[in-house]
Amino acid sequence: MNARTLLGLALAAATVAAACGGEADSLSYGGTKRAGGKTSSGGDGDTSSPGGDTTPDDSTPSGPVPTNSPAGKEFYTTNVHPFMAQKCAACHGAAGPGPAWLTAADAEKSYAQLFQVGYVVEQSRVIVKPAHGGSTTNVLSTAEIQKYNEWVAMELADGGQEAPPNVLEKLGDCFDRQKFDAMNLGQWRTTRRTNNNNTNNVTPWNENADTCTGCDNAPCTTCHSADAATNYKNAVGNPILPADNTFEETKLTTPAYITKYFGVSPEGKPIASDSLRKKAEATRKDKAYSHPMFTLTPNQSAALDAFVNDVIDKYNAGLCGK
Ligand code: HEC
Ligand code: HEC
Repeated sequence: MNARTLLGLALAAATVAAACGGEADSLSYGGTKRAGGKTSSGGDGDTSSPGGDTTPDDSTPSGPVPTNSPAGKEFYTTNVHPFMAQKCAACHGAAGPGPAWLTAADAEKSYAQLFQVGYVVEQSRVIVKPAHGGSTTNVLSTAEIQKYNEWVAMELADGGQEAPPNVLEKLGDCFDRQKFDAMNLGQWRTTRRTNNNNTNNVTPWNENADTCTGCDNAPCTTCHSADAATNYKNAVGNPILPADNTFEETKLTTPAYITKYFGVSPEGKPIASDSLRKKAEATRKDKAYSHPMFTLTPNQSAALDAFVNDVIDKYNAGLCGK
């Protein structure tokens, strides 16, 4: 962004602030003490989505997480968590601005979180993600990648048929087309960041409707119809692709589109990954012109849960897969 745009944004923001005065109120989340004395800069003060925020606060203590691989968990705690906490947690904890899947102070919880979002697999996004989010140092070293893969190998061996890839592979069989269609993914839209919807004290925040790409009421399908690099598939309503394209491709484990909906617990049970909600929460904590902001409406949220829970119920009843 050039200096002129920045100046323009600053002026626009100042004008709005001058015009409507009470701006400070909407930013005053920092006045309340948060339980647990966490050290974050206040990123999790987002209360803008009633009932939608499912990511637990960093300070929630967690008990021991049951697992099919006690040795794997021990290995994670001792050899993997320390470098993940150091390199990734600053942005992937509850404070954002990246999607939340790590808790620096809690190795047990992080272990379960990594399973939930589908990162305990070979070729994990954790090891293939290049530097991003404005940082040049948030990539793992060769030695760290080796440790990560060593850990994954232990989990896959001990998990056997209940290891994440083997469970995920079976879930597609149980997708209900009607419940999938009821999510109306073709209608999901982005929301432009304006001075009035910054609940996280992020600067810069305001987006210019004329120059932002896909940030202003754009369908998700604009960017997620066919680009595997984004790791999320949404081409519902696309006139060129077959009508069942998104339904079918969402079953895929490579690319792992299915993990936007499902994860697998360390005990081998399918669970909701909540990745779409986590991404939504993250976009509300990130700055202007990063991934477009979006919020799930109560209807979208309910339809999402109905689709996911139906598949999980069927799996638990032994109805999915080979
Ligand atoms: C400076 C903040 C920051 C740090 C540190 C950081 N991330 Fe991220 N990360 C982000 C943001 C912002 C996003 C969402 C935008 C994007 O995907 O580029 C993200 C998204 C991701 C994603 C999800 C998208 C995808 O491509 O699958 C992965 C995986 C990821 N980061 C891995 C890591 C790993 C591994 C580390 C530590 C080695 C790390 N990040 C450290 C900010 C950060
Ligand atoms: C202007 C283009 C654009 C639009 C519009 C857009 N996205 Fe994205 N999305 C991306 C890109 C690029 C990435 C990968 C980098 C990142 O996370 O910023 C991404 C990543 C994601 C991810 C993360 C995948 C992962 O593995 O972590 C999710 C989930 C997602 N988008 C959901 C949505 C939803 C839901 C909408 C609509 C409400 C939407 N996106 C609208 C471009 C877009």
